[in-house]
Amino acid sequence: MSRKLEGKVAIITGSGRGIGRGVALKLASEGARIVINDLDAAPAEDVVAEIREAGGAAVACVGNVTAADFGERIVKTALDTFGALDIIVNNAGYTWDNVIQKMSDEQWDAILDCHLKAPFRVLRAAQPHFRDASKAEAEAGREVFRKVVNISSTSGTGGTAGQVNYSSAKSGVMGMTKALAKEWGRMKVNVNCVAFGAVETRLTQAVTQETTVNVDGRDVRVGIPADKIALAAKEIPLGRMGTVEEAAGAVYILCLPESNYVTGQTLICGGGRGGF
Ligand SMILES: NC(=O)c1ccc[n+]([C@@H]2O[C@H](COP(=O)([O-])OP(=O)(O)OC[C@H]3O[C@@H](n4cnc5c(N)ncnc54)[C@H](O)[C@@H]3O)[C@@H](O)[C@H]2O)c1
Repeated sequence: MSRKLEGKVAIITGSGRGIGRGVALKLASEGARIVINDLDAAPAEDVVAEIREAGGAAVACVGNVTAADFGERIVKTALDTFGALDIIVNNAGYTWDNVIQKMSDEQWDAILDCHLKAPFRVLRAAQPHFRDASKAEAEAGREVFRKVVNISSTSGTGGTAGQVNYSSAKSGVMGMTKALAKEWGRMKVNVNCVAFGAVETRLTQAVTQETTVNVDGRDVRVGIPADKIALAAKEIPLGRMGTVEEAAGAVYILCLPESNYVTGQTLICGGGRGGF
């Protein structure tokens, strides 16, 4: 049976762990060659090794998505290593929460930079390649679709108290998606969003005491008390949090040829919770 993404080249930011890793493994299992990115080198290299061991192709581009030259660097990595670029998944991110009266400018800027400006720069860097490739394909009488999937959140669709920075950034990602879908339609690039509800990753793990992870040099509080998870699950029509594999599935369907006529949309992957 042919694999659905055979020969495609995908960039996935923040793919050393969690949802990004799940997307990388899924796309690779369908034949895509993957550029893995993460802040942390070790998990990024582990995912590269995992894909190669399974017979796939992957390369790491380690570093912070907020670096000014990151967009150019990751696009160049895809083109230099694999000679093509077909799919971009802007996924890297974390949360740094507080109520507005206690939120610093630094806290606001850090989250907006990571979730909104970094995807903007990656996509801006990809534009010349998308333009040239689509022009050559049009001249040859071929219609080839490329895919962008930006990762948003139900904090972006509905807002979350204590996350004014994150909710704003994730809402901004949806605006960017709609604008670029219109700008890039002539280049046959589908630009869509997936807004996740609660997905089981280290950010949402069940904890019994305060837990932090280090993101970009900061100790960020993560995890949800186990009893609150049980309560929250009651509000999810499907009755539980999503798995990383289910999250990856929502991104995957927007990378398929079957979604070629879908663009500018936000797919909510929240088990039935998290709409407007
Ligand atoms: N888990 C959820 O319930 C949930 C819900 C809605 C949206 N999201 C979004 O999904 C995306 C992935 O989150 P996750 O839950 O898989 O988290 P995760 O912490 O499990 O994985 C995120 C990965 O991104 C990397 N990363 C973070 N900041 C980075 C940066 N500046 N540059 C490069 N890499 C960076 C981390 O090192 C980590 O490996 C994020 O954009 C998050 O906001 C997650």
